[in-house]
Amino acid sequence: MEQRLRVRVIDPQSGNETYIFPNPGEYLLDAMIRLGIPIYGECGGRGTCGKCAVKVTEGDLNISLSDKNFFPADKLSQGYRLACRAYPERDCTVILAKEASNAYKAVTENFNDYKDLKDINLISDIKENGYGIAIDLGTTTLVIALIDIKKGSILKKYSAANPQRVYGADVISRIKASDEGKGQALKALVCNGLFHGIETVVKAGQITIKDAEKIVISRNTTMIHLLMGYPCEGLGAFPFTPYKKGFIYTSSDELFDISEKVPVIILPAISVFVGGDITAGLLACGFDTAKKPCLFIDLGTNGEMALGNKDRILVTSASAGPAFEGGNISCGVGSIPGAICHVDISDNRLCYETIDLKLPPIGLCGTGIIELTSQLLKEGIIDKTGLLTDEYFDRGYSIDGISFTQEDIRNVQLAKAAIRAGIEILLRNYGISCEELERVYVAGGFGYNLDINKAADIGLIPRAALGKSVAAGNTALAGAVLASIDPKAKSRLEQIISASEEIHLSDDREFNDLFIEHISF
Ligand code: FES
Repeated sequence: MEQRLRVRVIDPQSGNETYIFPNPGEYLLDAMIRLGIPIYGECGGRGTCGKCAVKVTEGDLNISLSDKNFFPADKLSQGYRLACRAYPERDCTVILAKEASNAYKAVTENFNDYKDLKDINLISDIKENGYGIAIDLGTTTLVIALIDIKKGSILKKYSAANPQRVYGADVISRIKASDEGKGQALKALVCNGLFHGIETVVKAGQITIKDAEKIVISRNTTMIHLLMGYPCEGLGAFPFTPYKKGFIYTSSDELFDISEKVPVIILPAISVFVGGDITAGLLACGFDTAKKPCLFIDLGTNGEMALGNKDRILVTSASAGPAFEGGNISCGVGSIPGAICHVDISDNRLCYETIDLKLPPIGLCGTGIIELTSQLLKEGIIDKTGLLTDEYFDRGYSIDGISFTQEDIRNVQLAKAAIRAGIEILLRNYGISCEELERVYVAGGFGYNLDINKAADIGLIPRAALGKSVAAGNTALAGAVLASIDPKAKSRLEQIISASEEIHLSDDREFNDLFIEHISF
């Protein structure tokens, strides 16, 4: 009988060892995904991000062209390979490199947390009793909250990396994977991830899933298409037409293939680019009742923004890239335990904090990236053009082994310039100045930890907005919570959508000039 090819995969963080059996000609990354090994394919398997790196410790793996381009000679001879470019031809043993091993830590499990609802306008006339489940189905992170509907409070919350990250950090990579026939695999990954999170919060709340009255999900249009198994062809090419963008009603038995039937409501999107996470955020921030114009900025993979009040809202999205979510940053990670989230440099003394203070640093999350950039700028370690001084130019600035390189700084500059240019375009099209804004909400998965002053220091938000800015946290989740508890949420969301008008930055002649203007710090 023919012997099957066998690869032993070791995760040094957990100590887990798993045997996988790649098919002939199958990439190691694809075999790992197929067999349930969590590994991070940030660039979608294009061989450019290095986050799928493994080290061969027994046997061997051929060196690919991408390996030669990515790894220096010493790393190649030590056995480092990119799993997305390697196809095993003989039995071997590989160890997941640090970035891959860190990719799937759960952020939090089983804790009480009410702060996501602080500082936002909870306008509701709550009548219903019982439990609800609110879900923020993020491109990077899944957040699942068990809610007491009557009290309007979060009882338990769970967060974990979106397991679809094996197919890429950004929505474009996942649309491509879906177009290449991996739609069902993507759907299965996220459904399994969500169901595990739901089971975790209901167990922690000492109830069962059938005790929940409803499950409300918010997120961008692509994530919803992948969850529902809709075709994604219309999302990735002009004229960018979603398969569906209104409310979607389904149920837990259909989504998760279980016997318990709980209604599932998916919040509506405005367009392909401005999804249900943004309508949820606008609901949470009370745009449907605001008399004076407010600005909403979501620092996600796509920097989505909205400016307006109850009568007129302009919305847009800028291709900011995943830098503020730790993507395309060499030591970037999501907001997971051990991620550096605060940085301060004063009198040449570096101080930093990690999420879960007890843990040593494993990488930089969004707030860490913003704060480190602002501090390096303040200390003159990078100049206004984003150039590192000679001392750090080749190796980057390091915090206990966590490097922040020249290329990382360039990616931060591109992301912040896209968002800042988008803000300026919204203000111009609305015909107001920053001074006329009532409030500025800065939303994002990294939430309340964001230091608004440091965000202004790097030019991400205008200085004139400082006194009126609120770090609003995860408004996609807050909106899903609100939609679970407020009987008027449906009509409020419909009003937000009917008041909204989308601006396409690619059609705006001023956008490029503003983008270039804001590249510098
Ligand atoms: Fe392999 Fe990016 S280099 S997934």
